[in-house]
Amino acid sequence: MGKPITNRVTWVGKIDWELKRFHGDELSTDRGSSYNSYLIRDSKTALIDTVWSPYDREFVARLMREIDLNKIDYIIMNHNEADHSGALLELMRHIPETPIYCTAKGEAILRGQYHQDWNFVNVKTGDTLCLGETTLTFIEAPMLHWPDTMFCYLSGEEILFSNDGFGQHYASESLFNDRVDHAEMMREAMKYYVNILNPFSPMVARKVKEILAMNLPLKMICPSHGVIWRENPAQIVEQYLRWADAYQEDQVTIVYDTMWQSTRKMAQAIADGIRLASPETTVRLMNASVDDKNDILTEIFRSRVALFGSPTINNGYSYAIAGLLEMARGLKFKNKRAAAFGSYGWSGEAPKQINEHLQAAGFAIAAEPLRQPWAPDNDMLDQCCAWGQSLINEQQ
Ligand code: FEO
Repeated sequence: MGKPITNRVTWVGKIDWELKRFHGDELSTDRGSSYNSYLIRDSKTALIDTVWSPYDREFVARLMREIDLNKIDYIIMNHNEADHSGALLELMRHIPETPIYCTAKGEAILRGQYHQDWNFVNVKTGDTLCLGETTLTFIEAPMLHWPDTMFCYLSGEEILFSNDGFGQHYASESLFNDRVDHAEMMREAMKYYVNILNPFSPMVARKVKEILAMNLPLKMICPSHGVIWRENPAQIVEQYLRWADAYQEDQVTIVYDTMWQSTRKMAQAIADGIRLASPETTVRLMNASVDDKNDILTEIFRSRVALFGSPTINNGYSYAIAGLLEMARGLKFKNKRAAAFGSYGWSGEAPKQINEHLQAAGFAIAAEPLRQPWAPDNDMLDQCCAWGQSLINEQQ
């Protein structure tokens, strides 16, 4: 059965405890996720979003226990990526005439994915749908994070349904933010923002400011993943404004790969130099082959400086570092300095190549690449320490 949110609104989604990878292998979801769908019962009944297709029959069967499907007057599709639209085919088999409210881009995406001539109703920012005592107002939110994305606001209940915006990949039987571990949830909210929304930060900032300017009373934000913001929902709105504004903390993240420990020793000596020069700065050492890539990217997002180290292999750099650099390029980090280092045996191209990739990815270069042959001795480790000291001193 569904879970009541208010007298009129019921959660009818799916909690997916088993989800550990999302978007193929692009995003780790160690704490699972949920696909939130909401049923609004007023004089008219509206269903907001569905769930991912592996759970389509389960979703529809559970929805049928909640309500006679023929009593659903409107389906609202805020965003049509498969994790939210995947159960539509199964649902529409039962109620094929029910109108689907979505943006024009949303209709194109649904047609492209499912090849069905459903009863689409296109909506734009400011359009409304009266349900009785409550009214839905639609707010287009293109590129948060797909072109079709929209939010909708339910007056009378003062709820913003924000789809992916303000979401977290965070499975929990507790439906509300005030009933889960706050630090754990915020960590997932940040990881979600970094890995999904950060490339669109300018649009995020504009859209959040636009919604704030509407002065809508807000009791809850109901996203399509994770828990509902019931206690102080403004906190995540304010946090998004901070994250969207070239965010950084006083942190340096050193990401390295290593074959025979030499690049690791360099990384540790560089970390010593940073600690000496700037004792208050948080230094994170992460091994690109061992640590989770999305956790590494989240730490880079928090940092003012990111250092990338790789041994030279086959006249290039390591697979794990290459993958991270490509992901960092796509995430469009702002306000970050970076530099490259690494150990080598005979050719030593890696640091220079990494440096070029960092520049192309929009990082400001904090220092010339540092490379050292074979295993570092004490003098070489002192050089690493001095390199770390100087690059952090230059920024202060
Ligand atoms: Fe949760 Fe963009 O889908």
